[in-house]
Amino acid sequence: MLELRNIKKAFGDCVANEDVSITVKSGTIHAIVGENGAGKSTIMKIAYGFYKADSGEILVNGQPVNIRNPHDAIALGIGMVHQHFMLVDTMTVAENIILGAETGSTASLDLETANREILALSNELKLDVDPRAYIEDLSVGAQQRVELLKALYRDAKLLILDEPTAVLSPQEVEELFGILRRMKEQGKTIIIITHKLDEVLAVSDEVTVMRDGRSVGNVKTSETSAKDLARLIVGRDVLLRVEKTDAKPNGTVLEVTNLSISGKIGPAVKNVSFRVRSGEIVGVAGIEGNGQTELIEALSGLIRASEGHVEFDGKDITNRSARELKELGIAHIPEDRHKRGLLLNSDLAENSVLGVHYRPPITSAGGMMNNAEIGKRVGEIIENFDVRPGDPTLSARSLSGGNQQKLIIGREFELDPKLLLVSQPTRGVDIGAIEFIHRKLIGLRDAGSAILLVSAELEEVTALADRLLVIREGEIVGEVDPKTTSVEEIGLMMTGGK
Ligand SMILES: Nc1ncnc2c1ncn2[C@@H]1O[C@H](COP(=O)(O)OP(=O)(O)OP(=O)(O)O)[C@@H](O)[C@H]1O
Ligand SMILES: [Mg+2]
Repeated sequence: MLELRNIKKAFGDCVANEDVSITVKSGTIHAIVGENGAGKSTIMKIAYGFYKADSGEILVNGQPVNIRNPHDAIALGIGMVHQHFMLVDTMTVAENIILGAETGSTASLDLETANREILALSNELKLDVDPRAYIEDLSVGAQQRVELLKALYRDAKLLILDEPTAVLSPQEVEELFGILRRMKEQGKTIIIITHKLDEVLAVSDEVTVMRDGRSVGNVKTSETSAKDLARLIVGRDVLLRVEKTDAKPNGTVLEVTNLSISGKIGPAVKNVSFRVRSGEIVGVAGIEGNGQTELIEALSGLIRASEGHVEFDGKDITNRSARELKELGIAHIPEDRHKRGLLLNSDLAENSVLGVHYRPPITSAGGMMNNAEIGKRVGEIIENFDVRPGDPTLSARSLSGGNQQKLIIGREFELDPKLLLVSQPTRGVDIGAIEFIHRKLIGLRDAGSAILLVSAELEEVTALADRLLVIREGEIVGEVDPKTTSVEEIGLMMTGGK
């Protein structure tokens, strides 16, 4: 279906793809794996006409083609779902789908016909999407299905999905894989980029491994294992488990009492009480959208709590501003790195001091920025958190997703926080870096910080947490010992046995 031959692509001095060759067979699900920055997104954006290769060849169904832009790609039956969705929130599903659809006759935007066609397409693949619904009212999973529908509506025969599961809950991942398998049965070809080896093993037929911009291996999924893939990806053996000793907690750092937070529709968090002590990691497990986002945002000063109290080190800090909280020693690694974590157009140096840029030692009392100090900060983060490429003058935007995440984590660790609030620390991060981030979190715990961790990855949160709170519909429905409680039991608590 698709053959990429000896593709090369450089951005300035950075060679993103070098001699990349990938053959994707028609009617298969083909996984692309590799470390952050290995060049996965770049090669797929070339196939979709987003970037033009410097050299190399692309063949579709055996024919050499010239893909100059996404229009050309769509005309050849290639569709792509980007990791960051490109939907207009205030429009309906159908409006989004026909918007920009290359039908040629934009004069007659027949919404009724579109509604009908989209509904039929949605039913055929059991996507459960209402064409008349507004995007802003849809869950992330549903928005992704809209992106899929958009590509299918344009008659895509080959679908490229760039880290589609990074933003999904485990249940939504299962649903997505069901959809992909049905699409495959209909004869579609699918390319999926993912960092999760269990997903590769569950859904793909073949795997291409990329490293340092090159395609370094191609294997049949049935003939490989997580361990083998990990070694191919990183070039060494990777610990696929977390190793840690028991926590030795000290005094209470964070005390939350009867906290409630209003959400978009009704209360998001209801009357929640818990505490986090120095030297322990308290995990919050729950299906996404059950209040954990609001909880972390309220504790870090991004939104207000409607009722209840928060104490930090014995002081009342309820509804203090994000800046005040940071000054007290509360760091925050947000779940949405683009919205909350980075200034994408600013360079790494500026991003490395974001949040503390206005005060000593970064800015002197007289208002002078201390460039030497900024240089030192960013240098330490690049070094300690292995941010690649490690050039402080690059924009945050030009880093690959996983490297953006390492930059944020490094910045917050530099604050030497007494309390770390962290959401989805390893989303979009490669397996080598996951191992690394897990070790760093445990190191921070052992150095005496208190950590509140939210993760949609049940395995991650059970492996890291010393105590685990289960949240459902905004309420903490129980606390369990992650060492002695099975993932199934926790899953049941998360869903209320449903
Ligand atoms: N628009 C750009 N300008 C400059 N450099 C870029 C640009 N896009 C990508 N790069 C660089 O090219 C290399 C490959 O990036 P790419 O996004 O393809 O990696 P990736 O394998 O998708 O990583 P991740 O798993 O983190 O998403 C990286 O070093 C990245 O910094
Ligand atoms: Mg990528």
